Amino acid sequence: MTLLEVRDLTVSFNTADGVVQAVRGVSFGVDAGRTLGIVGESGSGKTVLTQTLLGLTPGADISGSARFDERDLLQLTEEEMRHIRGERISVIFQDPLTSLHPLYKVGWQISELIRAHDKSVSKKDAAERAVELLSRVGIPRAERRVNDYPHQFSGGMRQRAMIAMALALSPQMIIADEPTTALDATVQAQILDLLLRLQRESGTALIMITHDLGVVADIADEVLVMYAGRAAEKAPKREVFYTPHHPYTKGLLESIPSSSAAGDRLRPIAGQPPSLINLPSGCKFHPRCGYVMDRCLSEEPDLRQVGESGFHNSACWLPAGAAGLSEEAEELREEAVHEERGEAAAEVAEAVAADVPGVAVVGIEGEGAAE
Ligand SMILES: Nc1ncnc2c1ncn2[C@@H]1O[C@H](COP(=O)(O)OP(=O)(O)O)[C@@H](O)[C@H]1O
Ligand code: SF4
Ligand SMILES: [Mg+2]
Repeated sequence: MTLLEVRDLTVSFNTADGVVQAVRGVSFGVDAGRTLGIVGESGSGKTVLTQTLLGLTPGADISGSARFDERDLLQLTEEEMRHIRGERISVIFQDPLTSLHPLYKVGWQISELIRAHDKSVSKKDAAERAVELLSRVGIPRAERRVNDYPHQFSGGMRQRAMIAMALALSPQMIIADEPTTALDATVQAQILDLLLRLQRESGTALIMITHDLGVVADIADEVLVMYAGRAAEKAPKREVFYTPHHPYTKGLLESIPSSSAAGDRLRPIAGQPPSLINLPSGCKFHPRCGYVMDRCLSEEPDLRQVGESGFHNSACWLPAGAAGLSEEAEELREEAVHEERGEAAAEVAEAVAADVPGVAVVGIEGEGAAE
């Protein structure tokens, strides 16, 4: 059952420098008990997208809809939203210190959260529940650690405490916004395991936001790849990993250390993310794309169905059949580029090839050439 259905969400901010087009027409759904991974470089609009759903982007111009359990989140009053946030949808941030108050004991913060949403719970019951939650997220000797202050917890323990808080009111959905980015690799893996286990146990839907496609590999059912405020590709996880269509997704895969897509060497993505105030014309990825064709410079592609499953969508002008990392797929892409790249796109392709030696750019000889 679809728990959250976001349609054509657009979010912009008026700033002194111009209008920041942070999210531009994004649609997706999340089913109960499933995990959606939202992936993209820093600045691609991932946080704005999800914060907007929770009414946490004051001053933004917002359009579209976000149906959650029969109601449109974008139409709720602040009072109605207060009951959604925490109770029905909770959030875990990258830095737990933005959510844990430094001057109050961890256990007290959890029990107060419980009592703030349900006054009928006694202080004693809420305190017991805090111990229970902390031990559920793997904090050893929880009955003692409830009396610690946040600074007495390690980074990993604080993130566990944040997860305990997120679970405290048994929400239907958890949004985890780069929850492991600040942690070292071992702790990161432990926290992801924990989230996955808790999600399975409780049947909570999870939106996992990350700039790291590797994180999504472990945890997501569906994946939404964001680029410059839009969905570049949207598909079940397997298809994103084995038959990516959008060159940006392919670039992300090739830049995961030790992935099969990367092969024996890593290929970083050329160039920098675009300014969201002065977006490039046409496909927003074109200044960085090794397959750039003439129409990419002037026409922005919408998401359309590619591949064979019926659930795989990509916003790219390359032929729908050109999905995957196989030689056949690469040949299809090369053919399309050969036919559709004129002088204008050739110039852009040269610039992409010159930017990062080793980046695959179809049709360009030399250092940056595709093999
Ligand atoms: N309140 C705001 N006012 C103006 N610009 C904002 C505001 N919040 C976010 N932005 C801009 O929106 C863009 C998307 O940001 P964000 O969603 O945080 O990216 P991500 O989470 O993918 O790293 C960025 O360019 C950011 O600077
Ligand atoms: S081939 Fe064109 S449409 Fe596809 S990602 Fe590259 S620039 Fe964009
Ligand atoms: Mg973010």
